[in-house]
Amino acid sequence: MNALLTVENLHKGFVLHGQGGTALEVMHDLSLELRAGECLVLAGRSGIGKSTLLKMLYGNYLARRGSIRLHFSDGPLELTDLPAHAWHPLRRDVIGYVSQFLRVVPRVSAVEVVMEPLLARGADAWDARTKAETLLSRLNLPERLWQLPPGTFSGGEQQRVNIARGFIGEHPLLLLDEPTASLDAANRAEVVALIHEAKARGTAMLGIFHDEDVRSQVADRLLPLDDHLMAKTTHFPGQPS
Ligand SMILES: Nc1ncnc2c1ncn2[C@@H]1O[C@H](COP(=O)(O)OP(=O)(O)OP(=O)(O)O)[C@@H](O)[C@H]1O
Ligand SMILES: [Mg+2]
Repeated sequence: MNALLTVENLHKGFVLHGQGGTALEVMHDLSLELRAGECLVLAGRSGIGKSTLLKMLYGNYLARRGSIRLHFSDGPLELTDLPAHAWHPLRRDVIGYVSQFLRVVPRVSAVEVVMEPLLARGADAWDARTKAETLLSRLNLPERLWQLPPGTFSGGEQQRVNIARGFIGEHPLLLLDEPTASLDAANRAEVVALIHEAKARGTAMLGIFHDEDVRSQVADRLLPLDDHLMAKTTHFPGQPS
């Protein structure tokens, strides 16, 4: 099967303007391929650039050089120079993202946070709510919390809302940044089940999992991010990032 996503010779660095223009090279010549129905797990030490890669794929960070392509039946789409307005439909329909922490919006209830990706596509509200409740119930979020805004929820409760929101959209590509980090064993197992179901639907996933047990259950392949390739700190005052 052909790749859904290809990343070629990707480079990324940050210029720390508050630190006298210190240039931090985070990624050097990274390439990868991801197919439908496969889960590729990023491995490597803390700070090597795993989350940075996911943020580049989601359009939160710009690449310095290199190519990120999604392959559709009518041809490839290059993401590194995609205009800002094109990101909204792409995130709505193609790329889902479970970030490490939930972004909480005041006064929006947990169930509404989860429903939102379906409503954005014009789904029926009753249908969206039913799907959201099914996911929250699978992830053992107590029913008394469903109508409350998640701002005061515990870390693990917020993360389960985040996971439900990420999986409800059934995007063809799903980015997972440590979705199980603050979960107990029962909920970790539920996330593993959600990942297996997504694979069966043909979802391509790129994930970060520190938990060895979860990793071994979900990973089809591991991509070790190597210090030699990935990290180098240099000092180039004024260099653009
Ligand atoms: N917006 C930013 N500005 C400056 N430096 C950044 C920025 N985002 C990330 N970095 C730096 O890039 C490097 C990689 O960070 P990243 O968050 O991708 O690491 P990680 O591999 O996900 O680590 P962890 O396992 O701890 O989550 C770090 O040194 C970090 O300080
Ligand atoms: Mg990270």
